Amino acid sequence: MCGIVGYIGYRESQPILIEGLKKLEYRGYDSAGIAVQTEQGLEVTKTVGRLANLESRLSGDPLRGTVGIGHTRWATHGKPSDVNSHPHTDNSLKFSVVHNGIIENYLELKEELVQAGHRFLSETDTEVISHLISVEYDGDIVKAVQRAVKKMRGAFALGVLTEYEPDRLVAVRYASPLIIGVGDGEKYIASDIPAILEHTRDIYILNDGEMAVLTRDAVELLTIEGNFISKEIFHVDWDLMTAEKAGFDHFMLKEIHEQPKAYRDTMLGRISDDGRSVELSELKMTAEQLKGINRVHIVACGTALHAGLVGKNVIESLVRVPVETDVASEYRYRSPIITPDTLVIVVSQSGETADTLAALREAQRCGARVLAITNVVGSSVAREADDVIITLAGPEIAVASTKAYSSQLIAFFLFGLYWAQTVGTRDEAAVAQVLAAMQSLPEQVEKLLAQAEVIKEVAESISHHSSLFFIGRGVDYAVAMEGSLKLKEISYIHSEAYAAGELKHGTLALIEEGTPVIALLTQEDLYEKMLSNIKETKARGAHVLGIVNEGQEQEVAKSVDRQFAIPRTLPLLTPALSVIPLQLLSYYASLALGHDVDKPRNLAKSVTVE
Ligand code: M6R
Repeated sequence: MCGIVGYIGYRESQPILIEGLKKLEYRGYDSAGIAVQTEQGLEVTKTVGRLANLESRLSGDPLRGTVGIGHTRWATHGKPSDVNSHPHTDNSLKFSVVHNGIIENYLELKEELVQAGHRFLSETDTEVISHLISVEYDGDIVKAVQRAVKKMRGAFALGVLTEYEPDRLVAVRYASPLIIGVGDGEKYIASDIPAILEHTRDIYILNDGEMAVLTRDAVELLTIEGNFISKEIFHVDWDLMTAEKAGFDHFMLKEIHEQPKAYRDTMLGRISDDGRSVELSELKMTAEQLKGINRVHIVACGTALHAGLVGKNVIESLVRVPVETDVASEYRYRSPIITPDTLVIVVSQSGETADTLAALREAQRCGARVLAITNVVGSSVAREADDVIITLAGPEIAVASTKAYSSQLIAFFLFGLYWAQTVGTRDEAAVAQVLAAMQSLPEQVEKLLAQAEVIKEVAESISHHSSLFFIGRGVDYAVAMEGSLKLKEISYIHSEAYAAGELKHGTLALIEEGTPVIALLTQEDLYEKMLSNIKETKARGAHVLGIVNEGQEQEVAKSVDRQFAIPRTLPLLTPALSVIPLQLLSYYASLALGHDVDKPRNLAKSVTVE
C-alpha cells in the first residue's frame, strides 16, 4: 500500500524523505515521488519504479529545501506511471498533495472541475484533491483543506503543501493511517512509525476525522471541522534495529527466526506464576459478560483469517461455543446474524486492514462486542475494538506474514483457555496442562528452525513444479491453508489446500505423476483417515511430504516419500509448530526461484483499501 512521509524543519528535506520512504518499502509500491519547497517554489520529482529510480533522477537535480512531502504509490486508479505517481499538483503548480486511500466520488468531482476549466494530467483520484484545494484556497491552507475534504468521500490520509505558505505542512486522516512525529525544531508526518523512528520517538496518532498543522516549532491538532483538540504524545519504545534485518538475508527469514521470542513475549505476563491459569488483565469484558456469550464470529483477511480458523478450533474445543469464521470483505455485505450474545473477534497484524476495520464497525453497529487480536498498539483496530489482545510479535516487515500469524495462534490459545477457566469448561489441572505445553513451544520452534536445511532441499525440488497440494484434516487443514497461501504469495507457484477427505470429490483429478503433495498428519485421532487419503494421492503418482509428529516416523515411512517431524505437543497446539516447516518451504522455494521474497509482486503489506 502507499506510503507517506513529510518533513518540516531546518535540515535538507530530500534525504529525510527518501530515507523515510525506504523504511516504508515493505508496504509494497510501484512508483515514488517527492515535492519540496525550494527557492524557486514548490518543485516535484516523481517516477515509476523503485526508489532507486527516483534517487537517480534526483542525483543530477536535487530538490533543495527544508520542507517537503514524499510518497510511494501502489496503483489503484490508473496504472503505475510517472504521471500517475504522487505528489500531485493543481494547474497553477502552487499546491501539492500526497494521498493514501481512495476518493470514491472522484469522478463526480473531476467532472465538475473539468467543466470549470481544470486540466488533468493523470488518471488518479488524488489529482482531484490538489485541484479541489486550489479552488477552495483564499489565503488559508488549513481552511482550504477542510473545505476540500468535506466534498470528498472515501478513505484518505493526506499531506498537503502550498507555495503560498511555505512554512506549513498540513496533514489529514480519514480512514487511512497517519502519524505525526515531534522533534526539536522539526516535525514529521508518516503513514507508519518506522519511516520517522530514526528522528523521533514522540508521535501523535491521528484518529479518523482529525488533522494536524505542522510548523517547525509546533503541531496544531484539530478536527476536520476546525475544532482544536489535544492529545497525549505516544512514546515509541521499540527499536529501529528490531525493524531491520539483523544479519538475515531477508526480513521474512529474520521474522521466521523471531518466532520463539514472539511466542515468549506474547505469553509473558499472561500466565499466572504457578502456571495454572491465564491472566488477561487487558480485557475489559467481565466474567459475567464472557459467560453470556453464546456464539462467536471470527473475521479477518488472508493469513490472519487462517489464524482465525485455528482459533475456531481452539474455542470450540475448549469452550464448546459455536464459532463461524468469515472473510472480512464479505462479512459486512452479507447481513451477518449478530445477536446480543455474539462476540466478534477481528484478527489483524497491522490493525489497519480496511476490510477488517469495516467488519469491526459493522459488528459494533449491530450491537456486538468486538475483541481485537492485533500486533499494533494504537492501530485503528486496537483503538476501536471493545477489548484488545496485543500479540507481541514486534514489527513485521516482510509482506508474507509469519511471526504475526503464529503469535495470533498463541493469543487464541490464551483467550480460549481464559474463557474455558472462566466458564468452567476446563478445570485448573486441564488448563495447567495446556499452559505447560505452551511454554515448551518456543524451545520446540528453535529445534525446528535448526533443521531448516532439510526443508530447503525439499523447497528446491518443489520449486520446479507449477502446481501442488497441501492436505490435512481438522486443525491440520487450517494450517494447510496457511501453508498454501504462503507458498503462492512469495514463490508464485500455484497450490491449493484441501481437506484431505474432500480431494476425492473432484480435485484428485489434478494429481498426476510427480505432483507434490504436502500432507499434515499431526492429529492422532485422524491419523488413519489421513493415511488413506495419502494413499489415494500416491496411487495417482503424487510425491508426498508428510509433516508428522516425532515418534511416528517409522509408521508413516511406508506411506510417504519424505517426511519432516515436529516435536510432540498437545493436538490443539500443533499449528504453532507445523506451520514453521511450511513457512520455511515457501521462503526457500521463493529464494530458489530468484523472487523478491520480502516484496512479492502485486502485494502490499498493509491493505488499507477495500
Ligand atoms: O494486517 P492484517 O493481518 O490485517 O493483514 C491481513 C492480510 O492482508 C495478510 O495476512 C496477508 O494475507 C499476508 N500477506 C499473508 O502473508
